[in-house]
Amino acid sequence: MSNVPIRERLKSFVLRKGRITSNQKKALIDLKDHYLLNEDSKIELFNDTSVALDIGFGAGETTIHLAKTNPELSVIGVEVYLSGIGSVLSRAYREGIENLRIFNGDVVPFMEEKVPDNSLDLVLMFYPDPWPKRKHHKRRLFQQDFLSLISKKLKQGSIFYFKTDWEDYFRDAQKIVQISDGWKEQKREDLANYLKCLPQTSFEKKALSAKRDLKEIILKKIS
Ligand SMILES: C[S@@+](CC[C@H](N)C(=O)[O-])C[C@H]1O[C@@H](n2cnc3c(N)ncnc32)[C@H](O)[C@@H]1O
Repeated sequence: MSNVPIRERLKSFVLRKGRITSNQKKALIDLKDHYLLNEDSKIELFNDTSVALDIGFGAGETTIHLAKTNPELSVIGVEVYLSGIGSVLSRAYREGIENLRIFNGDVVPFMEEKVPDNSLDLVLMFYPDPWPKRKHHKRRLFQQDFLSLISKKLKQGSIFYFKTDWEDYFRDAQKIVQISDGWKEQKREDLANYLKCLPQTSFEKKALSAKRDLKEIILKKIS
């Protein structure tokens, strides 16, 4: 494990000026105050409810599904790209979703500073950027220190659900799990029903059409 503090290591993303549609732009302006968490927001905002965190939600298909199918669950989505955030805001508003908050930025400082310890009931990390070249592996989000951060923020007995379509990312993640204490691997059948039938995301569809296998690791925090 690297000795570099998690916040000082290379970012897991490179922000490029992406294309953003006029609808996404409009949603970002009109719905900012309704859904976006800002620098001063605290997660205590969701007092007395169960809280799920979707890390790097992309186009937000999973985030929306979680919020829509679980009105009693408070869902927080974190993403660096505004285009995906714009789409999620517009869809959430159209579908009357209220139990959702979005943070635009890097999930690492967000979790370190904004999320209280032992406060999350579910963390999802689906298809994080694979950084396929070996020289870029240090940019991958799933590393031992990040798994420790997730553990610190999850409540005891809660679930961390990871999916990837990159075989070597999966193998490296498995190795990290093996040397990390306090987790118990779970089977898909053990999951709550709403997690067994999640919608296919655009990234998942791309992976399947490129004939890449979908792999997952499901962990329960036991200590
Ligand atoms: C390959 S996409 C997967 C999107 C989505 N989870 C899915 O299953 O379709 C990975 C996403 O993670 C976001 N991301 C990468 N590093 C991040 C970070 N440190 N904080 C927040 N989002 C991040 C990227 O912008 C990208 O949208």
